[in-house]
This record gives sequence, structure tokens and C-alpha cells, in this order.
Amino acid sequence: MAYDAQAAADRFEQADPRDILAHAVEGFDRIALSFSGAEDVVLVDMVADLGDKVQIFCLDTGRLHPETYRFIEKVRDHYGMDIELMFPDPEAVQTLVRDKGLFSFYRDGHQECCAIRKIEPLRRKLATVDAWITGQRRDQSPTRTAVPVAQNDRAFSAPGHPLVKFNPLANWTATQVWDYIRDYQVPFNELHERGFRSIGCEPCTRPVAPHEHERAGRWWWEEATQKECGLHITNIREADIGNARESA
Ligand code: ADX
Ligand code: SF4
Repeated sequence: MAYDAQAAADRFEQADPRDILAHAVEGFDRIALSFSGAEDVVLVDMVADLGDKVQIFCLDTGRLHPETYRFIEKVRDHYGMDIELMFPDPEAVQTLVRDKGLFSFYRDGHQECCAIRKIEPLRRKLATVDAWITGQRRDQSPTRTAVPVAQNDRAFSAPGHPLVKFNPLANWTATQVWDYIRDYQVPFNELHERGFRSIGCEPCTRPVAPHEHERAGRWWWEEATQKECGLHITNIREADIGNARESA
């Protein structure tokens, strides 16, 4: 019988992320956690207690901060886990850079570069699993206010290959994440100590001031409704896009 993501979303709506993860791991043999090298390391810490079934991967766009690369290695050593790095298709990167240079996203938006450096490698990875886990939270962005704990992934499912997406931290706030990191002495990216909150690629991320929203430092030259690269775009309902526009 097909997995009922809606029923899981209802059942686990207020659940502890550890219970959501345990449920996900129990239900799927081919399951992966997408780890971005930022504060979602709490999920790595939590799955470390659940055996070695969960594959951990990171999209290495080639444009991450040196601190993020060092952090990925630190996490790998700390937990003794494999972290698979997914690289973009070299020919696609070469064509983009030859035609448009290394910083085309400042001129014509980040979608094209993200499609090559993030989305295609993600699609390749997700073709090999039946469920994936992300660190998305509702409080991260006006575009994420409706993120459910579990959902059918409409973006990366393929005909004959349904894919379920778990967002165990959907209900958590940034404060809860950082309390966990402190309480359990979880390693974290040193960029967080320098004013970075949401961390992506180096050219597209900058630190934020205390009064700014955490995603203000991502693709800062674009408006709030554009601050998704396509990894999670299908979470966004039309109503939320409207809300985001109004509050931008
Ligand atoms: S993004 O779409 O704007 O880049 P964000 O940085 O907020 O995403 O991270 C949300 C979740 O997306 C992370 O918790 C992680 O699961 C996934 N993610 C983002 N970037 C990466 C990456 N480079 N590698 C793997 N997963 C990522
Ligand atoms: Fe390219 Fe910036 Fe997207 Fe990274 S975040 S893939 S550098 S546009």
C-alpha cells in the first residue's frame, strides 16, 4: 500500500523531531538526509542514534565557503559517518561559466546557476531513494510557513517512483535548534559566529544584522519571494507567495 504522507503529517504535526525521524527510518529502507553544512546538523546528530540506514549527502556546488567544507569534514569525523558529496555535471558548469562568467546570478538571477549546481545533482541523488529528510523550518522564511512534517514530493517524484519528503524540524524555531546544538554539544559551522545565520553558497550568502530576518543574507539582491532555489519550491502555495510579497 502506498505510504500516506498526509496521515503522517497529521499524526506527527506536533511531534518531537526524533519521533518523526524514527517513523521515517522505520518506514523506508532507501532514505537520505540532505545536509547543508549549516544548523541542520541537528538532524545528523539525531539520525546518528538510529543506526546507519540513513544516507547523508551534501550538494557540493563548488561555491561553498571554505569554512563549510571544513565543517562537513568535522561532522564526518565527529560522527564517523559517510557524507556523500554530490557534484554538478562538469559540462553544464563549464558551459554556463563560458557563456556567462562566474557571477551571472547577480545579473540575471540565481535560478539558472542553482539549477545546474544544486537541482540536477539533487534530482540524481533522489532518484536512488524513496524518501528524503530536510532541515526546513516554518520560521525560516515567508515562503515556508506551510511546510508540513511529511509530504509527497511533487517536484522530485517521477512516474513509477513516488518520493516522500520529511521535514522533522518544521515546527522548530531557530532558538530550539540552537538550544539543541548547545545542550548536546553538536559541532557547528564557524560562520555562525561571524553573523551568518542561513548559509548557502559563498557568493550568494552574507551575514545579517541582529534585526534582520535570517534569510535576508541569502540572494540579498533579489526580493523575498525569489529566495528559493528550487530545492523546496513545491512547498510554496500560491497563498504563501502572496503573503510573502505583501511582507517583503
Ligand atoms: S535553500 O534552498 O535556501 O538553499 P536552505 O539553505 O534554507 O535551502 O536549507 C534548507 C534545507 O535544504 C536544509 O536543511 C537541507 O536539508 C537542504 N539543503 C540546502 N542546501 C543544501 C546543500 N548544499 N546540500 C544538501 N542539502 C541542502
Ligand atoms: Fe549558484 Fe549562488 Fe545558487 Fe550557489 S546559491 S548554486 S553560487 S546561484
